This record gives sequence, structure tokens and C-alpha cells, in this order.
Amino acid sequence: MSVRTLVINGKDVAGDADQTILEVARENSIHIPTLCHLKGLSDVGACRLCVVEVAGVNKLLAACVTKVEEGMSVVTDSPTLHDYRRTIIEMLFMERNHVCSVCVANNHCELQDAAKELGLTHFDLPPLEPVVEVDASHERFVIDHNRCILCTRCVRVCDEIEEAHTWDVFDRGAGCRVITDMGTPWGESRTCTSCGKCVQVCPTGALFEKGRSVAEAKHRRRFLPYLRALEQDQQ
Ligand code: FES
Repeated sequence: MSVRTLVINGKDVAGDADQTILEVARENSIHIPTLCHLKGLSDVGACRLCVVEVAGVNKLLAACVTKVEEGMSVVTDSPTLHDYRRTIIEMLFMERNHVCSVCVANNHCELQDAAKELGLTHFDLPPLEPVVEVDASHERFVIDHNRCILCTRCVRVCDEIEEAHTWDVFDRGAGCRVITDMGTPWGESRTCTSCGKCVQVCPTGALFEKGRSVAEAKHRRRFLPYLRALEQDQQ
């Protein structure tokens, strides 16, 4: 394991060569907002909320999938980054139908938290208001695609931790959806073990347990160290 020294926000830090900018930043109490990242799962760089500036690189890089390099100089907070992150969150809100006041995850939602952190008090972009499905065919869980931000945490936890690979991603662009068993209704899935891991890692109210009402879908945070422990066991 070789050490890399770098500078983040003017602070000298060090990390292992296989660590990402995000990991090293967090080890040094430097905040970088994230949505698709979840410790214990692989990183896919889906949401781009963690973008940072790296000296000498003429584009923004996702901190969760960029490995640290010797001599790197990283900025994690600037007016430019703030604007990009704010636009990303606004686009996520506009892409589907997020109505926080009637959402099961109201006040327990990472998308909502990010909007608050970035001072998103109103939307400038026009909403797409797509007509999207709700699948309530599973006896215990529901997926409401209106609230899905396509972070793919459900896909990854199901594949990497539960190893059922029930969830997958279908299509691209506005038609993109997370699906179960190649498009089979969730309740008819033959691979789903009903473990509920996907529900617990969902950052919004897209996946929730039946019987939850507005603001009642709290994600169990104690579940996350459990995921990490499982991952370490598997290595
Ligand atoms: Fe890095 Fe989503 S947290 S791209």
C-alpha cells in the first residue's frame, strides 16, 4: 500500500493510493456532499453531486470515483461547485414528481437534505411532470418511481450484499427506471428475498415499506455499519 500526499482546500493530507478523494476528504473531516455514494457499496459516480475541482484538470471530477494522486490539489467548495451542485439537485427534483409534503420520507430524505444544504428555495427549471409508475405488487414493499433519483443504491446493495441481483437499470434518459427481474412486477419476482435492504438504502421515499404514511419512512441508519461489516467479511 503506497501513500499519496495531496492538498485539499489548502490542507495537507495523505491517503493510500487506492483511496478516493472522497474517502480521504472524509477521513480529514472535509465535507463533500453525496447522494449515490454509500459506504459499503461500490461507487458508480451516478449523481455527480460530489464533483470537485482539481488543479490542472479542465473539468470537474467526481470525488467518489477519483483516486488520490501524489501532489494533487483539490478544492471541494467554491461558487462554481455550489452552482453545479444546486443545478444537479434542481434537475433531480424536476425530472420526476417529488412532492415532499406528501412523501413518506419527508424530513428523512437525502435529496431534501441536499436541497436544504445548497439553499435551493425555488426552482428555475420547468418541471417535466412525467407520468411514471408505482409498483405496489410486493406484499411488504412499494416502489414509487416518482421519487426515484436513479442513484442505483438498491441495485448495488441487492447485487453486492444480498447477492440476489433482483434490481437492475432499464433504458436511458427520461425512460430510465430501476426494475425487478427484467421488468417483472416486484411482487412476482422469483429472485427477491424480501430482505428489505434496498428499502433501507434508498436515499428518498422511492422505496418504502407498506403501511408508512407521510414522513414515517425513516431509514434505519444502524443498518449501514452492518453493510460495511458484510463487505469486509467478503473481502
Ligand atoms: Fe459521487 Fe454521486 S456521490 S457521483
